[in-house]
Amino acid sequence: MHKKGVFITFEGSEGVGKSTHAKRLAAMLGDGAVFTREPGGTPVAEKIREILISDELKVSPEIEAELFAVQRREHADELIIPALREGKTVICDRYIDSSIAYQGFARGLGLERILELNDYVLKNCMPDVTLFFDMLPTENFRRRKGSVVEHDRFEQEHLEFHMECYRGFKEAARRFPERIVPIVPDPDKEITFRRVVEALKKRGAI
Ligand code: TYD
Repeated sequence: MHKKGVFITFEGSEGVGKSTHAKRLAAMLGDGAVFTREPGGTPVAEKIREILISDELKVSPEIEAELFAVQRREHADELIIPALREGKTVICDRYIDSSIAYQGFARGLGLERILELNDYVLKNCMPDVTLFFDMLPTENFRRRKGSVVEHDRFEQEHLEFHMECYRGFKEAARRFPERIVPIVPDPDKEITFRRVVEALKKRGAI
C-alpha cells in the first residue's frame, strides 16, 4: 500500500471523552484531515452498525466479532485507504483495539481470534498511532446521555463487562507498544487536549 497520509485512532472505555478530542483534533487540522468512526464510516458500514448496536437483534459473540471485522474491511477499503493515498490525516474514533477489548476480552473470544478475524486490516490498514484514553470505566457511562433512558447494546452491559473491556485495552497496549500511546485524561479538557497534541507531535504524526 502506497500511503502518504497518517492514520490515527482513538480508543478507550465509554464516556472517557475520546470522541470529543478526536473531533477537536480533526477541526484543528482542517482540510488535511478526515474524521470517521466505527462501527460505521461508510453507508454500508453504517447499516452494519445498526445491527451491531441494536438492543433487539441479538447475535452470538462470534458473529458480532465477524460483523465488526467486515464493517472494518469495508471502511478501510472505501474510505480510510483512499484518504491516506490522497495524503490526508485520517482520524478514527474506535478501530481494531475496540474489537480486542469488547469481543476479545469482554465477550471472551480471545485476542488471537480477533487478530485472525481482522487479518485483512492487520495487513493492509493499521493505524500509525493509537491514542488510548487510559481511564477506568465508571457507572457514569450510562448517564452520559442525560435523562435519555434508552441505551445501545453495549451501554446496557454491567460494569464488570466494561472493566473487562478496559483490561482488553491494557493488553492491546502491551501487545502493540510501538503503536498504542496511553493518554491519561485530566478533568480539565484543555490539559487532556494538550496531551493529545503533544503525543502526536512527538511521534511526528501531526
Ligand atoms: P458508539 O455509540 O460509537 O460508542 P462510543 O460513543 O462509546 O464510542 O457505539 C459503539 C459501540 O460499539 C461501543 O460500545 C463499542 C462497541 N464496539 C465493539 O464492541 N467492537 C468494535 O470493534 C467497535 C469498533 C466498537
